[in-house]
Amino acid sequence: MKKVGIIGAGKIGGSLLLRLAESGGFDLGVSDIHPEQLRLFEDVGVRTTSSNRELAEWSDLVIVAVKPWDVAEVMQEMSPAFDGTDKAVASVAAGVTITSIVEKLPEGTAVLRVMPNVCASVGLGSAVVTANEAGRATLPVVMDIFRHVGDVLELPERLFDAATALHGSGPAYVALFADALVQAGVREGIPRDVARRLVVGTIGGTAVLLKERSAHQVRDEVMTPGGTTAAAFVAMEKAGFVAAVYDGIEAATERARSLGG
Ligand SMILES: NC(=O)c1ccc[n+]([C@@H]2O[C@H](COP(=O)([O-])OP(=O)(O)OC[C@H]3O[C@@H](n4cnc5c(N)ncnc54)[C@H](OP(=O)(O)O)[C@@H]3O)[C@@H](O)[C@H]2O)c1
Repeated sequence: MKKVGIIGAGKIGGSLLLRLAESGGFDLGVSDIHPEQLRLFEDVGVRTTSSNRELAEWSDLVIVAVKPWDVAEVMQEMSPAFDGTDKAVASVAAGVTITSIVEKLPEGTAVLRVMPNVCASVGLGSAVVTANEAGRATLPVVMDIFRHVGDVLELPERLFDAATALHGSGPAYVALFADALVQAGVREGIPRDVARRLVVGTIGGTAVLLKERSAHQVRDEVMTPGGTTAAAFVAMEKAGFVAAVYDGIEAATERARSLGG
């Protein structure tokens, strides 16, 4: 069994750890600068330490799940543990390129990038994966790990910033839309708890429909010519709904690019 160490027990690292621990198929370790954040993982049989270097020495694969601006320091700290070994490192950080990670580690280190999303915490995540040449042999292992928390695809690194904008940040856009729908329902007089239940059910149900058919098909099934949905579409499009989505994804892609280096 491969030893998998996760650095950063936050929203992504922590939820990944809990689900991997539940599956029982991995030898797991974790480090974080907040020791109080590690107790929860001790209880589910995960090895814990506050030393990133110690965790890297123990691990066959290290998954770095700290904020993008903390990645360089973590790589530098771990670097000696990679010397003369075939350990691999996978980063889930937005924007941080494989080239910038390779610079901090011994030559020839296997480096992978993963862009997951927070839906991994309920086992319904989406993730894309890529690797440098040395990291290609570890791709199946990393894909298997993220398959434990959702769907996984391989994607060229040049598209990672766009994917970060699309599905990495995606749950927040859906939450924004859900909140707007709930508020709109309340504005029309529907009790808040009823509006919330209707909206959550509609989003969940539509997600299932969209797995079976295209967005256009779903739209056409709902939209009777001259009906209520058609009236809503005209108003939403006039208000720039679709253009706002394009602008948002473009802004997030640019922001991910600017985090690189
Ligand atoms: N959250 C998402 O939806 C999402 C989606 C896709 C990708 N990502 C990527 O995933 C990464 C982690 O995001 P997150 O939202 O999980 O962050 P998070 O909740 O802040 O978790 C990161 C954890 O690592 C700790 N940490 C900071 N520096 C460290 C160090 N040097 N050594 C060990 N631990 C350290 C943090 O402590 P402090 O809080 O004190 O910094 C925190 O406990 C980011 O790079 C992000 O781009 C996140």
